[in-house]
Amino acid sequence: MEAKGETQWSSIIVPSVQEMVEEKVITTVPPRYVQPDQDKSGVTDDSGLIPNIPIIDMKRLCSSVAKDSGSELETHDLFNLPMEEKKKLWQQPDEMEGFGQAFVLSEDQKLDWADIFFFTMQPAQLRKPHLFPKLPLPFRDTLEMYSAQVKSIAKILIAKMGEALEIKPEEIEERFGDDMFQSMRMNYYPPCPEPNQVIGLTPHSDAVALTILLQVNDVEGLQIKKDGKWVFVKPLPNAFIVNVGDVLEIITNEIYKSIEHRVVVNSEKERLSFATFHNPGLNKEISPAKSLVEKQKKRAKFKRLITKDYLKGLFSRELYGKAYLDAMRI
Ligand code: OGA
Ligand code: NI
Repeated sequence: MEAKGETQWSSIIVPSVQEMVEEKVITTVPPRYVQPDQDKSGVTDDSGLIPNIPIIDMKRLCSSVAKDSGSELETHDLFNLPMEEKKKLWQQPDEMEGFGQAFVLSEDQKLDWADIFFFTMQPAQLRKPHLFPKLPLPFRDTLEMYSAQVKSIAKILIAKMGEALEIKPEEIEERFGDDMFQSMRMNYYPPCPEPNQVIGLTPHSDAVALTILLQVNDVEGLQIKKDGKWVFVKPLPNAFIVNVGDVLEIITNEIYKSIEHRVVVNSEKERLSFATFHNPGLNKEISPAKSLVEKQKKRAKFKRLITKDYLKGLFSRELYGKAYLDAMRI
């Protein structure tokens, strides 16, 4: 998992798994997708107890949250665009935005069993002109609305989390003000003839502050690592999944730990999900909150880094568990 050169981003053009599956009946998985050595430890089966994932009632946390923020999204239509349309939105060499896969740095790297569409959403002036503006309507309008609502939820949650740790509000506001960085990643996991031979999404923690994830079509597949075991997070109607990411672990000096997760696929159903990532502004600093470190009387456990540089480092390496966060440790 060595970091590659300074300027290298996710640069390898990958084929579409969806197209491969839809073109002809596949009975075995092509070698590039075979990753059978996944950790099977403690995956709870359907009869297992649902793990104790806390559920937050946003109405009780804040009265101003819009009620319909989990409204139907036209995500499916995006993946069902004709291939020639999707090709126009495909990742270019040395670009990680668009259709494709993330964190693919070499031709021999194993691939996930999924297509993704990833792009920067906020601040609006950082949107790539060949991506968001080229998305079909009314999807683009839905995304615009969704982006604003999800961003406001993320802001509230981050502020409340800071408050709970008695971090000075200015320290949170400074990082998550108007220039807060928001990116979106839609994931399409086609059914797979040999689900145990592949992984939908490699185990990782999100390298952001807070992720708000929607399991679009209520097919399960997401697992989190809890006490060393993989447990399913079952889709809950009208609910988002909120992931604490590495950047919050850094800001809270390890009090809120980022959650490692992965996606497994199945042989019958396609699965769709929609992750919205929130990070400090690109020119803001990612570092343990000063007021917290002083109060804790502990040392800062992570380096200080400008968000821009943090992201550059992130996209120049393969995704691997919580390895990138570990690289940030002092
Ligand atoms: C992600 C992610 C989970 C899912 O996009 O980072 O973890 O359920 N997605 O697809
Ligand atoms: Ni994730």
